[in-house]
Amino acid sequence: MSARGVEDARARGKTVLVLHGPNLNLLGRREPDVYGPLTLDQINERLHALAAEIGVELEIFQSNVEGELVDRIQEAAGVTHAIVINPAAYTHTSIAIRDAIVAVGLPVIEVHLSNIHRREKFRRRSLISDVAVGQITGFGADSYLLGLRAAVRVIANSRSRSLKTRRPLKARRPA
Ligand code: DQA
Repeated sequence: MSARGVEDARARGKTVLVLHGPNLNLLGRREPDVYGPLTLDQINERLHALAAEIGVELEIFQSNVEGELVDRIQEAAGVTHAIVINPAAYTHTSIAIRDAIVAVGLPVIEVHLSNIHRREKFRRRSLISDVAVGQITGFGADSYLLGLRAAVRVIANSRSRSLKTRRPLKARRPA
C-alpha cells in the first residue's frame, strides 16, 4: 500500500456528511451547460461508490430550506467526522450556515460544480470559504468526489483529536 493509502486507511469507518443546498435537486435539468448533465442521484451514486472504495460511511442530505441545512450541520456534531457541502446559492448569503459550521467545529470542505470565481460578481463571494478547510470549485460532479477525498485526508490527518474534544474553529475577524 502506498504511503497515501496507509494514511487514508486511518479514515476507515469514519463518517462524512454530504450536504446539497437549494436547487441542486434539479441537477440534470437545471442549466446543464453550467452544472453538467448528471442528476443529483447520479452524483450521489458516484459518491457512494467512492465511499465504499475508501471505506468511509456516507450520509447525504439535500434541502432547499436554509434552516434544514443548519439543523443537519448541528446534528452532525459528535456524530460526523467531516462535512462536504455545496451550499449552492446560500454560499453567497447565509450567515446562518456559516455560524453553524463555526459552532460545531467540524472540518468542512466547500464544493461547487461551476467555478464560482469565473461567474457573476455576486457568486465570487463565499461566506463559507474562510471557515472551511478549503474550497473545490469548477470540476463539475468531480468537485464532490475531490471533496470527499479531501475530507478523508483531513480526517486521517486529525485522528489524534477526538470528536468530543475538538474545539470550534475560530472565525476570522472581519477586515
Ligand atoms: C453552485 C454555484 C452557486 O452560485 C449556485 O447558486 C448554485 C450552484 C455550484 O455548484 O456551482 O446553485 O453552488
